[in-house]
Amino acid sequence: MFSGKNSTPLLLFTYTLHLLLTTSFAANAANDILYDIYPFIRVYRNGTIQRFIGQGFLPASTDPRTGVQSKDVSIAKDLNVSARIYLPKNALPGHKIPLLIYYHGGGFFTESAFSPTYHYHMNSLVAKANIVAVSVNYRLAPEHPLPIAYQDSWLALKWVFHHASGKGGEPWLTNYADFGRVYLGGDSAGGNIAHNMAVRVGLEESDPGVKVNGMFLNCPYFWGKRLVGNESADAHVRNFLEAIWLHAYPNSPGLDDPLVNPGKDPGLKTLGCKRVLVYVAGNDGLRFRGWYYMQVLKESGWDGIVKVVEVKGEDHVFNLINPTTPKAIAMLQVLASFLNQ
Ligand SMILES: *[C@@H]1O[C@H](CO)[C@@H](O)[C@H](O)[C@H]1NC(C)=O
Ligand SMILES: *[C@@H]1O[C@H](CO)[C@@H](O)[C@H](O)[C@H]1NC(C)=O
Ligand SMILES: *[C@@H]1O[C@H](CO)[C@@H](O)[C@H](O)[C@H]1NC(C)=O
Repeated sequence: MFSGKNSTPLLLFTYTLHLLLTTSFAANAANDILYDIYPFIRVYRNGTIQRFIGQGFLPASTDPRTGVQSKDVSIAKDLNVSARIYLPKNALPGHKIPLLIYYHGGGFFTESAFSPTYHYHMNSLVAKANIVAVSVNYRLAPEHPLPIAYQDSWLALKWVFHHASGKGGEPWLTNYADFGRVYLGGDSAGGNIAHNMAVRVGLEESDPGVKVNGMFLNCPYFWGKRLVGNESADAHVRNFLEAIWLHAYPNSPGLDDPLVNPGKDPGLKTLGCKRVLVYVAGNDGLRFRGWYYMQVLKESGWDGIVKVVEVKGEDHVFNLINPTTPKAIAMLQVLASFLNQ
């Protein structure tokens, strides 16, 4: 979607137009829009907030397609932090399988663990990989600006890890999850979150019985002041990507905040897992950031293996938008293998 030339509802072909209307025409006097990061979010001066994607809700279920079961759990009621947990068909109590903690995308502004896009993705991945998954529902900007999503995501991670001792209250975790084979994953803004969770895992004292084996990032959202690769080629894409960070995190020091620019993060060297898989899409304005992530991770002295897979001819999070295409199915297979290494 970040290349601005596709046609599914998630894509941003109209973003350029919105940007022109709201920015170039200095039109903020002529209309009531404070900022417009279409289709994620539009914020009006009178406080009205509109989201154009990611608002759907599907209940937890037993998925007829895959046989995967899901249920919703509250992690912090007062903060409204929750998660949807997934268990594959034929899971046997006591037979432990890998555990994935997943962070959804949506530019920090929209989507949820309960939307059709992510519910479908988790059902597919859990079935294919035969894993337990926890899909985290963190709070969204701008009502809850960053760093709140990071705090919620960490709270959820620690809640999950707490089950490694056998004491946590969620039986799907205590009975089925192998805490010696934990993985983190996320796409787009959720890829950014997963990465930052891995950094923190590496910096803090480890939880007894927990080993984070690896992490996959699908078209992760990173940026920085200095452009890399071809990023200067399209000013509209660049403005869009920068606006996401600056509006999601108004108190951030900016585009070289280590949270968005891993190249500025001294914590990279101790990233809390040894294997990282990054997917980038050939038409995505974020693709060079995925490659750059690999570069800075290697340069940091981190003692692990990182691999980037670029899928040509595809756009941002193509596998979530069109999950039944051959390329999406091939990617699902690679992710499933990664989660079982
Ligand atoms: C805020 O402004 C928008 C655009 O002018 C309008 O559609 C909406 O009804 C307004 N909301 C309130 C609460 O005034
Ligand atoms: C809590 O989160 C759910 C799921 O994202 C949302 O639908 C609901 O509106 C939230 N409740 C409050 C009080 O923010
Ligand atoms: C860089 O961007 C320009 C303009 O969008 C495009 O024509 C060119 O093919 C791109 N090159 C690469 C390597 O992506």
